[in-house]
Amino acid sequence: MSNAAAQTGSPPREAIALENLSVYFGTGANAYAAVAKVNLRVASGEFVAIVGPTGCGKSTLLNAVAGLLRPAQGRALTLGRVVNGVTHEAGYLFQQDALMPWKTALANVAVALEVRGVARAEAEDRAQQWLARVGLAGFAARYPHQLSGGQKKRVALAQTLIRDPSILLMDEPFGPLDAQTRGLMGDLLLQLWQADRKAVLFVTHDLDEAIALADRVVVMSAGPAARIVSEHPIDLPRPRNVADIRLDPAFHALQRAIWNDLRTEVMKAFGEQGDGVLQAGASA
Ligand SMILES: Nc1ncnc2c1ncn2[C@@H]1O[C@H](COP(=O)(O)OP(=O)(O)OP(=O)(O)O)[C@@H](O)[C@H]1O
Ligand SMILES: [Mg+2]
Repeated sequence: MSNAAAQTGSPPREAIALENLSVYFGTGANAYAAVAKVNLRVASGEFVAIVGPTGCGKSTLLNAVAGLLRPAQGRALTLGRVVNGVTHEAGYLFQQDALMPWKTALANVAVALEVRGVARAEAEDRAQQWLARVGLAGFAARYPHQLSGGQKKRVALAQTLIRDPSILLMDEPFGPLDAQTRGLMGDLLLQLWQADRKAVLFVTHDLDEAIALADRVVVMSAGPAARIVSEHPIDLPRPRNVADIRLDPAFHALQRAIWNDLRTEVMKAFGEQGDGVLQAGASA
């Protein structure tokens, strides 16, 4: 760790750093600059939410941190080490279900430990404890098709957290759920996060969700060559309840300020759907 920190010059307590990160898809004249020169830091224990118009490059940023794609320029670091290949420090929760339909809820959670060499009996024991923590103690024997959308998300959360990653990457994890279930999942996530603060990078379309959960909300510009247009600290008190915090006047002030930035980018993205190419960095 100290070697890596010395080598990169980054403080070891920093969970995630994006330094001048650009990602292109394709090559040569057809290359598409998805994100350009993005700088972002997430401290250890910090909860950062990214909002931005559809297609701007939010998943691309998470994929760069996870080591699923290689930047064209700049670099991503986790815990002071340059990301080069899949990042094992990070747990990744995707929007789509990642559960194996042929395994029970218990087996789906346990497998996350088994692939790491933990013996089955111990893995199942710990998986049962995790199912209890996400409120599914009685659902261990169910298969994914016998679970509701919200319950499947709980299993996926247990499956990710049982590995105790120091970094949690979440890409619209509660997207397909109804508003009420989303709120409950947000509360569950905050409760688990509060217990042992992991660094979280959380992507969402939902500005209210971002404000309710995060310590800081980052707004991305419309693409191509998307960048970060603003960052807003969320100084609402914790512990928070997702439904209650929305009634706080300070919440509304933050919502107005951030929406002001986000609206501009959403309108730009909407206007650009047809014709495509925009000059890099033109979205000021
Ligand atoms: N593998 C790929 N090849 C080519 N273009 C890609 C690829 N992956 C993403 N893109 C493009 O890069 C841009 C950013 O995509 P990304 O998935 O990061 O957006 P997003 O902000 O996550 O969008 P959404 O909110 O809809 O999930 C988009 O214009 C997308 O079409
Ligand atoms: Mg996405």
